[in-house]
Amino acid sequence: MRDVNAAPFVQQPLCASDALVERGTALVFDVTLWGQPARAFAMRFDGRAVAYMNRCAHVPTELDWQPGEFLDHDKRWIVCSLHGATYEPSDGHCIAGPCRGERLMALDLVEREGQVSWYPTPDIQPLSFD
Ligand code: FES
Repeated sequence: MRDVNAAPFVQQPLCASDALVERGTALVFDVTLWGQPARAFAMRFDGRAVAYMNRCAHVPTELDWQPGEFLDHDKRWIVCSLHGATYEPSDGHCIAGPCRGERLMALDLVEREGQVSWYPTPDIQPLSFD
């Protein structure tokens, strides 16, 4: 079992809970993925805060069609702006498009007492300014 109190896996505060509005604009934030600068995003869908790497499973490019805008017109699906891969927001599973059957890389989020935080993994780490 992971020791969540051991650096570099310590819980990372992200935002206040009310910053994530149901099916609203996502919060895009900087991380590192495999040691390289990358972006992740957090949104609220069906009441639950979720977060994924901003990286399509088809081609490793960012998904949003405007900064923080990931959902389709009906606010039902995450749709990649490049070739239209369609993902289930609740679990990141691709249900249509060129990477059908694959999924977005999820971040481990926790929401407690009005605060949303995430847990780094060996692959996904906070961006360090050292
Ligand atoms: S890059 Fe996302 S569907 Fe092709």
